[in-house]
Amino acid sequence: MSESRRYHVTTFGCQMNKADSERMAGILENMGMSWEEDPLAADVVLYNTCTIRDSAEQKVYSYLGKQAKRKRKNPNLTLVVAGCVAQQEGENLLRRVPELDLVMGPQHANQLESLLAQVDQGNQVVATEPVHIMEDITKPRRDSQVTAWVNVIYGCNERCTYCVVPGVRGVEQSRTPAAIRAEMVELGQQGYKEVTLLGQNIDAYGRDLPGITPEGRRENTLTDLLYFVHDVPGIERIRFATSHPRYFTERLVKACAELPKVCEHFHIPFQSGDNEVLKAMGRGYTHEKYRRIIDTVRRYVPDASISADAIAAFPGETDAQFQSTLKLMEDIVFDMVNTAAYSPRPGTPAAEWANQLNEATKQDRLQQLNHLVSQQAEVRSQRYLGRTETVLVEAVNPRDPAQVMGRTRGNRLTFFPGDISALKGQIVPVRITETRAFSLTGAVLEQAAIKERIGVSAC
Ligand code: SAH
Ligand code: SF4
Ligand code: F3S
Repeated sequence: MSESRRYHVTTFGCQMNKADSERMAGILENMGMSWEEDPLAADVVLYNTCTIRDSAEQKVYSYLGKQAKRKRKNPNLTLVVAGCVAQQEGENLLRRVPELDLVMGPQHANQLESLLAQVDQGNQVVATEPVHIMEDITKPRRDSQVTAWVNVIYGCNERCTYCVVPGVRGVEQSRTPAAIRAEMVELGQQGYKEVTLLGQNIDAYGRDLPGITPEGRRENTLTDLLYFVHDVPGIERIRFATSHPRYFTERLVKACAELPKVCEHFHIPFQSGDNEVLKAMGRGYTHEKYRRIIDTVRRYVPDASISADAIAAFPGETDAQFQSTLKLMEDIVFDMVNTAAYSPRPGTPAAEWANQLNEATKQDRLQQLNHLVSQQAEVRSQRYLGRTETVLVEAVNPRDPAQVMGRTRGNRLTFFPGDISALKGQIVPVRITETRAFSLTGAVLEQAAIKERIGVSAC
């Protein structure tokens, strides 16, 4: 039945969801289906959803409304909701949108083919029970031919009081170093140049794997993994996200300073700059500890770019406590901070508390945060002016076909004049001539692409 059917996948949310979507698209292609750009023309439509905030969750319902209408006219249409809303809502989604064929949580992404087989037998299927995630045998259909996501740990064992992730992504499950390396070796052979290792709490990598070193240290930490995969041929850049301040180690920073392929970029969310708020969030660190981590990063890797996430107007946050967040940011000066106003989420403790702040306070604080974020991003961008940065070219600048775009090692988006057919996947030295808060413009220093190792780098 799947022969010649056309599928469409729309992805919401984080890098984990993007990686899952690529795996699910790979499964659909493997079943003989082909990509359809227009979701309203596809035979199989899959929404891979996010529920981190209410606004993210609501998005999918409006999309589903249109598809449900289509389905009533075309019973051959297969409608799938995957990802975190699927996990959170389960059967409720079928009640809300009875036209759905399949509701599947993130842990079931690998099982898409067998779940669709059940749908083909005429069933409405809900797959949300916790499972041990099996190693994938199908190949993802990756969006890029230059940079790739590689999952290293699924799930999260933390219990941040605002967060749905542990509820929807389940307990931590690390992939083995051998499986991760094998995936990277294959990516290198296929011509990929950059890999981002993914985990919601990537510092927890390996906690569930066996192994203690003769010195009594846990084997298979993220740091060990970086050393283990560092020499994979063809892969020139390695990134990782997201770091949790509670588990971040000096050993990891040293590894980044030592290993030339590991990019000088750290994404370490602080969420708040106030100890009382951090405690209420259940984050397990103080702002002093966070500051020490940044000091350590800057001691070993002085030019590192540092990004983070922050939440404005957590329940009970006073104005003085919010000022502490601004103060932390002023002291550190971040390259980039993802901000959000607190959003109460089903099944999380903080959503039940009586001390919720009103919408006006949320918006006011969020605006103040955002203002500071762009100011700081601009300041941090300016340090690149006149410098030569190595840029891994990914694509054409969508706003100017005469330019290509890529990222610096510090993860700044950079545009420069060039021909994509010659430059795609190349790492080129670019002299930066213009800076903006979140991007740079430059010109190639010399025509020939150089190996990044002999280029300019902070390590
Ligand atoms: N695992 C990462 C982040 C995962 S979620 C970490 O621990 O930092 C991505 C970001 O969404 C979080 O860092 C947080 O800033 C934001 N977020 C999560 N739940 C939220 C909520 N209920 N309201 C507002 N922002 C939230
Ligand atoms: Fe959510 Fe906290 Fe886990 Fe991050 S560490 S995913 S914020 S529970
Ligand atoms: Fe969203 Fe799920 Fe990621 S809730 S942020 S897609 S883990």
